[in-house]
Amino acid sequence: MSGRSEHWDRVYRSKRETDVSWYQAKPELSLALIREYAPDKNSSVIDIGGGASPLAAELLRESYRDLAVLDISAATLEKAKDNLGGNASNIEWIVADVTEWKPERQWSVWHDRALFHFLTDDAAQDAYIRALNAATAPGAIAIISGFAPDGPEKCSGLSVVRYDAKSLSARLGERFDLLAEKREAHETPGGSVQKFYYAVLRKS
Ligand SMILES: C[S@@+](CC[C@H](N)C(=O)[O-])C[C@H]1O[C@@H](n2cnc3c(N)ncnc32)[C@H](O)[C@@H]1O
Repeated sequence: MSGRSEHWDRVYRSKRETDVSWYQAKPELSLALIREYAPDKNSSVIDIGGGASPLAAELLRESYRDLAVLDISAATLEKAKDNLGGNASNIEWIVADVTEWKPERQWSVWHDRALFHFLTDDAAQDAYIRALNAATAPGAIAIISGFAPDGPEKCSGLSVVRYDAKSLSARLGERFDLLAEKREAHETPGGSVQKFYYAVLRKS
C-alpha cells in the first residue's frame, strides 16, 4: 500500500464520515452544477476522490444511472457502499490512486471536490491531468473544486495548493475551457469556515 492510501485509510478508520472537515450532508453546489451542465440523466458521472460523499447517492436518487466513484481509500468506499445498502450495486466503485490510474472508459462528467489540491508537485499534477484527459472525450464537463486562495493551507494535515477557477483552468491546459466559476464558504462540522472555489470546464 502506498503512503497516500495508508494516510486516507487511517483517516477514514479513525473518524466517522460526518466528522471529517470536508463533510457535507448534501453537496448542493456540486448537484446544482451537474444539473445545469449535464441535465441529461444519461450523462455518465465519475466522482474523483469521492470518498464517502453522498454525491453519487443523490445523483442516483435524481435518476442519473451511469455513476462511478473513485478513491484511493478502500475503507471510505466500503463506508459509502454500506450507507447505500442495496443501491450500492448501481454505482461503479474504483479503488485507485488517480495519479496511477489507467481509465478503461470515458465519462461525460468528471467531478472532483478537494482531491486535486493535495497534489503539490508537478509530476503528480501532470499524472492527474493525463487521467482526466484519458477519462473524458471532447465535450465532456469537468467540475473541479478545492481550497481558494483565501482558504486554509492544509487539509487533513496535508499541505494543499490553493487555486481559483482561472489558475486551475490555466494548470489544466488549453483543452479545458472555463465555463463558470463559483465560490463557497464551507462550514466544517467543527464550526470553522473554509473558502472553496468551483470551476466548471468543457473539454474541446
Ligand atoms: C478532502 S477528501 C474529499 C472527499 C469528497 N470529495 C467530498 O467532497 O466529501 C479527499 C478525498 O480524496 C481521496 N484521495 C486523496 N488522494 C487521492 C488520490 N491520489 N487518488 C484518489 N483519491 C485520493 C481521499 O481518500 C479522500 O476521500
